[in-house]
Amino acid sequence: MYHEELILILCVLVVKSASKSCIHRSKIHVVEGEPFYLKPCDVSTPVHKNETATMRWFKGNASHGYRELNTRSSPRITFRGYTLEFWPVELEDEGTYFSQVGNDRRNWTLNVTKKPKHSCFSEKLVTSRDVEVKKSLRIACENPNYGELINDTTLYKNCKEISKTPKILKDAEFGDEGYYSCVFSVYHNGKQYNITKTVNITVIEENSKITPAIFGSKCEKVGVELGKDVELNCSALLNEHDLFYWSIRKEDSSDPNVQEYKKEPMWTSEGKLHASIILRIQKITEKYLDVLYNCTVANEEATDTKSFVLVRKETPDIPGHVFTRGLTVVVLTSVAAVCVVILCVIYKVDLVLFYRRIAERDETLTDGKTYDAFVSYLKECHPENGEEYAFAVETLPRVLEKQFGYKLCIFERDVMPGGAVVDEIHSLIEKSRRLIIVLSKSYLANGTRLELESGLHEALVERKIKIILIEFTPASNIPILPPSLKLLKSYRVLKWKAGGPPTSNTRFWKRLLYLMPAKAVKPWREESEAQHVLSAP
Ligand SMILES: *[C@@H]1O[C@H](CO)[C@@H](O)[C@H](O)[C@H]1NC(C)=O
Ligand SMILES: *[C@@H]1O[C@H](CO)[C@@H](O)[C@H](O)[C@H]1NC(C)=O
Ligand SMILES: *[C@@H]1O[C@H](CO)[C@@H](O)[C@H](O)[C@H]1NC(C)=O
Ligand SMILES: *[C@@H]1O[C@H](CO)[C@@H](O)[C@H](O)[C@H]1NC(C)=O
Ligand SMILES: *[C@@H]1O[C@H](CO)[C@@H](O)[C@H](O)[C@H]1NC(C)=O
Ligand SMILES: *[C@@H]1O[C@H](CO)[C@@H](O)[C@H](O)[C@H]1NC(C)=O
Repeated sequence: MYHEELILILCVLVVKSASKSCIHRSKIHVVEGEPFYLKPCDVSTPVHKNETATMRWFKGNASHGYRELNTRSSPRITFRGYTLEFWPVELEDEGTYFSQVGNDRRNWTLNVTKKPKHSCFSEKLVTSRDVEVKKSLRIACENPNYGELINDTTLYKNCKEISKTPKILKDAEFGDEGYYSCVFSVYHNGKQYNITKTVNITVIEENSKITPAIFGSKCEKVGVELGKDVELNCSALLNEHDLFYWSIRKEDSSDPNVQEYKKEPMWTSEGKLHASIILRIQKITEKYLDVLYNCTVANEEATDTKSFVLVRKETPDIPGHVFTRGLTVVVLTSVAAVCVVILCVIYKVDLVLFYRRIAERDETLTDGKTYDAFVSYLKECHPENGEEYAFAVETLPRVLEKQFGYKLCIFERDVMPGGAVVDEIHSLIEKSRRLIIVLSKSYLANGTRLELESGLHEALVERKIKIILIEFTPASNIPILPPSLKLLKSYRVLKWKAGGPPTSNTRFWKRLLYLMPAKAVKPWREESEAQHVLSAP
């Protein structure tokens, strides 16, 4: 109340001042001899422009009723816009005042205090302020209502001038207690007026106590893994003698796996205490889960609690490293599979031979046939085909029979001369599992046609014999080759590289063996020689 009144007093209107604050208060205390003004707030705009005519001022008191004020009422009173000014206000001005614009009516009650004789200020017009010791004490003499009309401002403490610069900014000490008066000198119509504004400063004890508070949310879920340890960290801002503790269940208080410890508290820059208490739970088991562990900070005025709950940590479906590993394995497996397939294709022959040897497969036992292969070749020995003759009659039996235990049917060797050649050949071919055709340029020119036709019939029609074509001459170079022979699957066609020793044709022999029926050879005769022929290139 005093404060606002004081402001009013200080807000004495100065003629030229354009920025006068309006006055809301209806009861006003002023001191005699000081400039003063009344100004209603939020006056509705008049209907016509003649403002002075519109705003009317009345003064009254209980006994005499109201009378309108005009410039003749008192030489100290002036009207300016919506403002009623006193230069200065005197004891006789005490009373009730009205302002009226149309139907808009405001009223004030003015109390004029006598000017104190022995003091520079009136105790009735003092505002009070408490300042904490060590906190900033700020006093600044300002009065915007006077504006530039103030040509001198003086600051007094207990009515003694202390500063020509009317400003104080310091850390409060107990010695700073007292009455601080700002005296503003205002000149109006050649006369000087003083306006005094006084504040009663009381320096109080430091209010160090804070409301203790725990950091973070009031309930914290902590994800844990069974068997692991966890530390619950409860931190708070508190006063030195506040209580700060964990509430744990009875059964946990005797549990060596549940330990409580305090961290050394620290003072913050604002002079508050920052403390942490830790609850350490080791070897977490189910019994610690879904239990509230409460941490509390408390003093006489306030309490704050935070609860921690241990919950089982969600393990992701596929941990990243497992996923990566899995992907790697899949990729490597795929690559390996592809490699195996490729190797199988490349080394098919070797693998089959290897398998036959390991498994001791023998497909010759039950088919009732006598020979493993019928060798069809050009029987006449001419100088130009001597090589294939030798191949058929010598090389083939040497390798297939001597080394790998096959039984070949070689016409010259195995057929008794003189019999019915056609029938004989036919029955021999029927008794054979393979028909080996040693193809050369003049092969078809001679009696071999019969064998060939018989064999082809067996192979293609009866499907009782399989053909192996060994080309001494590429089949494409032989004009009258039966078309069926040309259609022979390419893997059944072997090319003999003439001239070299048998070992130079390792691949040839392997493929030949592959095309021959599987036969368990027991034991491998002339093992060393067999190895020789088949040794890897
Ligand atoms: C305002 O009105 C009064 C009479 O009501 C008149 O005497 C005065 O001249 C007017 N002033 C202005 C500025 O119009
Ligand atoms: C000024 O403050 C002091 C201390 O609070 C108090 O005792 C005294 O009455 C106050 N004076 C006035 C005029 O309010
Ligand atoms: C204040 O202003 C008045 C005239 O405007 C002048 O006479 C007086 O000396 C001034 N006082 C100070 C302290 O400047
Ligand atoms: C205003 O205060 C000054 C001192 O600050 C004093 O000399 C002067 O007489 C006062 N004037 C009035 C009108 O009280
Ligand atoms: C506990 O948490 C506070 C902050 O919330 C931190 O300053 C303190 O170092 C932590 N203590 C431990 C042991 O983690
Ligand atoms: C923790 O506080 C909750 C209520 O907030 C209470 O139900 C629970 O029993 C308390 N736990 C302990 C261990 O004191």
